[in-house]
Amino acid sequence: MTYLDNAATSFPKPEGVYAALDRFARHSLANPGRSGHRMAQAAEHALADARHRLNRFFNGRSPERFAFTLNATDALNMAVKGVVRAGDHVITSDLEHNSISRPLVALAEAGTITLTRVAADGGGTLDPDAVKAAFTPKTRLVALTHASNVLGTVQPVGEIGRLVRERDALFLVDAAQTAGVVPVDVQALCIDLLAFPGHKSLLGPTGTGGLYAGPRAEVKPWREGGTGGDSLTPTQPAEFPHLLEGGTPNVLGVAGLVAGLDFVEERGVEAIRTHEVELCDRLRVALLELPGFEVFGHADPARRVGTLSFRYEALPAPDLGGILDSSFDIAVRPGLHCSPYIHKALGTAPDGLVRVSPGPFTTDADIDRLIGALKDVAGAA
Ligand code: ALA
Repeated sequence: MTYLDNAATSFPKPEGVYAALDRFARHSLANPGRSGHRMAQAAEHALADARHRLNRFFNGRSPERFAFTLNATDALNMAVKGVVRAGDHVITSDLEHNSISRPLVALAEAGTITLTRVAADGGGTLDPDAVKAAFTPKTRLVALTHASNVLGTVQPVGEIGRLVRERDALFLVDAAQTAGVVPVDVQALCIDLLAFPGHKSLLGPTGTGGLYAGPRAEVKPWREGGTGGDSLTPTQPAEFPHLLEGGTPNVLGVAGLVAGLDFVEERGVEAIRTHEVELCDRLRVALLELPGFEVFGHADPARRVGTLSFRYEALPAPDLGGILDSSFDIAVRPGLHCSPYIHKALGTAPDGLVRVSPGPFTTDADIDRLIGALKDVAGAA
């Protein structure tokens, strides 16, 4: 199969990831921090090492501030439900994935918070002045994606982060589409809470992700349970990362995630992004010349990650995606991409768009296969 769905999850993984998973599962898969024996201690050290690596990668304040989660959705829920209080106002945008939108809308519908959704411009970028204008005296949280999972547009999070900080609110950033392909320095960008998946551009296995909670963020745990120590404390221990990590963590997945991080650091974040964006532009140029195809997203490649969405006038996106899969063995993601508000704004709901997202191992030949398939479909339609 020609796999062009890396924005959903990356595939294949680097060889080092498969090797690390196999090695760890065979030799080190004890319950970290529990039981006190050497294997359990070694598993705990693997988690601690991973936190150090992530702290360096994202320039966090300290490794303990990184809690492992199942994915970015898990981290976003933990952040949103952990920091908002009754009566708060929250600012978000129409670029968001349901992983942020749904928890916020549920809180708004329950009467716990009020919510303002700022609209992106036609190219899919937020204007910091529009975010500024949305503040009220009760604004406690600004929750935004770093890059749209539909359009690939990278948002001005540094500028927004500074104005959130000036107003003494908290800034939550969803790095689902950027962690591993866009440099993220949480201190320089004034990010208080960073949610990231381990299984996308960090190239780890599914079931991995993390939440960074900086020192300004007071987070209540929404998952409570055993942490391996401090068993006499009747409620969740207050120290990070135990505060947010009740239950046996996915230490096997984390071992794979660290191997993914090795690959990313060796190849270089910018180099991977450039490779993926160039592949998208190869497709973009071809589609602009094909009659009946419409391409979305910002024209400037410097403002995008490697994600390109388009539609074909003669076939709804789900049908075209199905044909690419069944007749050409090409995997893309058609539809609404769990991001309904931006599709409504673009006028592309309910069928959505066909999204193509190459990864570090995608080649020009893979993109040319897709272009050839689309020409075949267009010729036959
Ligand atoms: N959030 C993932 C995507 O955009 C699953 O496809």
